[in-house]
Amino acid sequence: MTLGFIILAAGQGTRMRSQVPKVLHPLAGRPMILYTVDVARALTDFPPVLVVGYGAEAVRRTVGEAALYVEQVPQRGTGHAVLQARPVLEGRVDTVVVVCGDMPLLRAETLRRLVERQRESGGPFTMLTLVSDDPRGFGRVVRDGQGAVRRVVEEAQATAEERAIGELNAGVYAFDGAWLWPHVARIPISLPKEEFYLTDLVAMAAEEGRQIETLQVGDPLELLGINTRVHLAEAEAELRRRINRQWMEAGVTMIDPATTYIEAGVTIGADTVIGPHTHLRGQTVIGRCCQIGPNAIVADSVIADGCRVLASVVEGAVMEEGSDVGPFSHLRRGARLAAGAHVGNFGELKNATLGPGAKMGHFSYLGDAEVGAGANIGAGTITCNFDGERKHRTVVGAGAFIGSDTMLVAPVRVGEGAKTGAGAVVTHDVPDGAVAFGVPARVKGTR
Ligand code: UD1
Ligand code: CA
Repeated sequence: MTLGFIILAAGQGTRMRSQVPKVLHPLAGRPMILYTVDVARALTDFPPVLVVGYGAEAVRRTVGEAALYVEQVPQRGTGHAVLQARPVLEGRVDTVVVVCGDMPLLRAETLRRLVERQRESGGPFTMLTLVSDDPRGFGRVVRDGQGAVRRVVEEAQATAEERAIGELNAGVYAFDGAWLWPHVARIPISLPKEEFYLTDLVAMAAEEGRQIETLQVGDPLELLGINTRVHLAEAEAELRRRINRQWMEAGVTMIDPATTYIEAGVTIGADTVIGPHTHLRGQTVIGRCCQIGPNAIVADSVIADGCRVLASVVEGAVMEEGSDVGPFSHLRRGARLAAGAHVGNFGELKNATLGPGAKMGHFSYLGDAEVGAGANIGAGTITCNFDGERKHRTVVGAGAFIGSDTMLVAPVRVGEGAKTGAGAVVTHDVPDGAVAFGVPARVKGTR
C-alpha cells in the first residue's frame, strides 16, 4: 500500500501583506513549507505533490526535487486544488493525505495515526478535528443526533447556532484514493466566491450513507495555521520551544530558553552551556563542553569542543578545540581559530587564521592573514590588507611577537620568532628572528 501526500500551497496568503508567498516565510530560519514537506517524506517514499499557484516559481526553487508540482491557476478553492493532483496520484497511491502548506507545526506522529485510523476504518476518509473555544475562522464539524458527522460548514456561511459548535475542521484529511478522485471531480460550486470547497466531500459522503471517521488532536498548537504575521510569531515561539527542549533533552544547558534562539539546522554537543540572548543560525555545528553566550550570535560556523564565545558575532568561521573569542569581537567569513587560539575584546578576523595557541587580546584587525602557532598579536595591531584596489596577504610566522599598534602593510611577511616594535609600520618582510621598528619599520642593525 502506498501513501501519497497533497500539500496545498497555491494561495497568496493575502493577510500576510507580503510580496513573498506565505509558505516561503521563514520559521526558525527555514521556509515554512519545508516543515510540511519533511513530515510527508517521513511517512512515505512517494514524493509529496505540491499544489502551487501564487509565486509558483519561487516555491519550486525553494523546495526543489523534494516534491512534485502541479499548478492551480486560477485558485478556485481547496476542492479545485486537490483535483489538480489527480493526474499525478490516481492509480499510484491508495491513501491520499491532504494538508495545507501553512501548518508547519503538524507532527508526523499525528499524521501517522490519521493514516492508520483511515486504513483500519475502510471508510471514504478520516479527518483531523480539534475541540477549542477559539475557532480562529476554522470550519465547524456538524454532527447529527447519533453523533455521526454530517457536514462541515465554513465560518462565513455558518448560522449563529453552528458557530457555537466547538469541534473544528483542521483541514487535514486521509482519503481512500478510489473514493476521492470521482468525488472531488463532482464537488458543486459554492457561492459567493464561486469556489469548490474540499469540505463539501463531507456532506457528499454522509448523503451516500458512508461513515466519516475523525481523529481529535489534543494539542491545538499543532494545528496552528498561519494566516497573519501574528500567527507567524506564535508558530516561531512554539517551534523555538520545541527546538530548545530537544537540545536540553540531548544534554545542552540553557540558562534562559526564553531568550535562546536556535534555528532548525543547528547541532549542539552535550554539556555545552548556552547563555541568555544567544542566536545560533544556519548550518552551525557546536561541539561538546562549550560556553556560548550570553549575547552571542553564531551563524554558519563550526565550533569544536571546549570553546568559548562571549558576547561576540561569529559568522562563517571555524573555531578549533579550546579556542575562545570575546567579549565584543567579530569573526567573519573565513576566520579560523586553531586549537587554543585566543581572541579577546574588540578583535576582528576576516579570511584569516590564528595558529594554535596564538593570541590576539585587544583592538586588532586581521584580514587575509595567516598567523603561526604561538604568535602574539599586540593590542591595536592592524593588517593594512587593502590598497584601495586589491586585497593582499599578511603572514606572521610561528612564535612572532607583534608589538602594540603595529601596522602590517600587505603584502608582507614577518618571520618566525621575529618581533616588531610598538607603533611600527611594517612595509617590507621581516626575516626570521629579526626585530623591526619605526616608521617605516627598519630591521634592527640595518639602516
Ligand atoms: C480551510 C477549510 C476549513 C478549515 C481550514 C483549516 C475549506 C473550504 N475550508 O479553510 O474548513 O477549518 O481550512 O485551516 O477547505 N489553497 C489552494 N488553492 C485554493 C485555495 C486554497 O492551494 O484555491 C490552499 C491555501 O494556499 C492554503 C490552504 O489551501 O494553504 C487552505 O486554504 P484557505 O483559503 O486558507 O482555507 P481556509 O479558509 O483556512
Ligand atoms: Ca487557512
